[in-house]
Order: sequence, then structure tokens, then C-alpha cells
Amino acid sequence: MRIAVAGGTGQVGRHVVDTARRNGHDVVVLARSTGVDLVTGVGAADALHEVDAVIDVTSVTTLDAAESTAFFEATTRTLLDAEAVAGVGHHIALSIVGIDSSPEGYYAGKLAQESLVEAGTVPWTILRATQFHEFADQVYARAKVGPFHVAPKMRTQPIAAQEVAAQLVALAEAGPSRRAPDLAGPREESLVEMVRGVARARGSRSWIPAVPLPGPSGRAQRDGSLLPGPDARLGTQTYAEWLTAFSSSAPARD
Ligand SMILES: NC(=O)c1ccc[n+]([C@@H]2O[C@H](COP(=O)([O-])OP(=O)(O)OC[C@H]3O[C@@H](n4cnc5c(N)ncnc54)[C@H](OP(=O)(O)O)[C@@H]3O)[C@@H](O)[C@H]2O)c1
Repeated sequence: MRIAVAGGTGQVGRHVVDTARRNGHDVVVLARSTGVDLVTGVGAADALHEVDAVIDVTSVTTLDAAESTAFFEATTRTLLDAEAVAGVGHHIALSIVGIDSSPEGYYAGKLAQESLVEAGTVPWTILRATQFHEFADQVYARAKVGPFHVAPKMRTQPIAAQEVAAQLVALAEAGPSRRAPDLAGPREESLVEMVRGVARARGSRSWIPAVPLPGPSGRAQRDGSLLPGPDARLGTQTYAEWLTAFSSSAPARD
């Protein structure tokens, strides 16, 4: 198959590209760094020539609902419009487990994305996954008060981005299936301890305080609303196993 990976340079996107190539597919990467801007639409139509399936793993770094919604609506509309013109037969979007429980902040954009995909004319699959193991490192890099790192209090059942990527490629190979079963990691973790773990792996000895995020989405993070239900499929690599591998390769960073 010819598979386009929107966001194919990102945290999970890199693994989607590698997995699809390993499985023998022809892969096109859509990202601003490859000349395709899915917010403005520049380059999108040409990139989808003879593509069979699009896997959308783009993202924006924001906690603001308006910004998140503007991004996911623009990128999804660009993709769906270009797919319809190019005759792409399958749109696959990656979303997040439990977001209905707090439809605000970043999650507002993810729900808007899901609605557009479900209402669109291109046959679709939506996979909701929990936070990636790699999310701990994203939080370590981004959650700062001045020069100090902080860790949001959150109950999560994280999964390796590599396992999410493998499932996305399997879904592309299987054809449109609408809402796929949710995907989560093997066990519940504390995001605070995960962030402290990557900090130590990166050579930091600073104390990282646990902070409760404000508002309904902060509450949803703490009260378990973002944990998977009993029907979720579970991956196999634990956070501890991932961290051991990460620790042997992560460059030091403050
Ligand atoms: N992180 C998690 O724990 C997690 C958990 C569950 C689901 N998800 C979902 O998984 C998806 C990917 O998340 P991630 O953490 O892997 O993202 P990420 O590492 O932040 O990567 C984002 C990707 O989007 C691309 N991108 C951003 N703006 C773009 C634009 N205007 N046009 C084209 N490409 C653009 C980036 O490439 P350029 O910068 O080169 O444009 C990059 O490849 C998101 O939809 C997220 O909601 C994430």
C-alpha cells in the first residue's frame, strides 16, 4: 500500500513511518519539515497522489481549547478535502482515551477532530490510545515554571509509542473500521513518578514538585477518567522497561 503519515516526524509518527516501511509499504511523510503545511494546506494535494490510506498523527503543543480546536479542525479539513479529491479510501486518526470526560483544553480540539472525521465522506478509523511512555519526556521538556520543571498529577496507563504505531499500521492494512477498540499500556502509573524517572535518566538531580492542574481537565487527569475501560486492548511494554531502554540512550538535558 501507499500510506501517507501526517505528522510522520513526531513522537509516534516516526514509529508509524518505520513500521509501515518495515511492513513493505510505500510511505509519504506529511509535515512542515517535508514541505507540507496542513493548517494552510500548502503541499497537501500533491502529496496524496496515489495514496491508499492516510494516518493522521499531527499535533500542536497547547493547553488552549481555541488554539487546539483551530489546529485540529484546519488540519483535518485539509486532509479530508485533499483525500476526497485524490480518491484516498481510508483516513485513520489517532485520538486519546477518555477525552469525553473533559471536553476542554487540548482535548476540545481532539473531539472536534473526531467529529469531523466521523461526519466526513472518506471511510475512516479512529483509534483512541492512552498517553505514551514518551509523554513523560514531553512533559519534562514542556511543563516548567520559569526555569523549574514541574509534574502534573495524573493517573495514566501509558503505552509505548512503538506499540501504538504498530496498531495504527495494522488498522491501515485492515481497512476502515470506524471506532477501533481503545489501546492502553499494561499497567497504571503516576505521571509524576514517570516525569521524575525521565529527569533522572537525563541526569537531573533537581526535585520536581507534583502540581494539580486547574479546571475540569486537571480533575479528570487526577480522578482516573482518562484510564482505559475493561474492553481496551493492552500493550506489553511496561513504563519501567521503556525507561530502562530510554536511560541508556537519552542525552543529558536540564
Ligand atoms: N503524546 C501522547 O502521549 C499521545 C497519546 C495519545 C494520543 N496522542 C495523539 O497522537 C498524535 C501525535 O502526538 P505526538 O505527541 O506524537 O505529536 P508530536 O511529537 O508533537 O508531533 C507532531 C507532528 O505534527 C507535525 N505538524 C505540526 N504542525 C503541522 C502542520 N501545520 N502541518 C503538518 N504537520 C504538522 C509535526 O511536524 P512539523 O513540526 O515538521 O510540522 C510533527 O510531525 C496527536 O494527535 C495526539 O493527540 C498523543
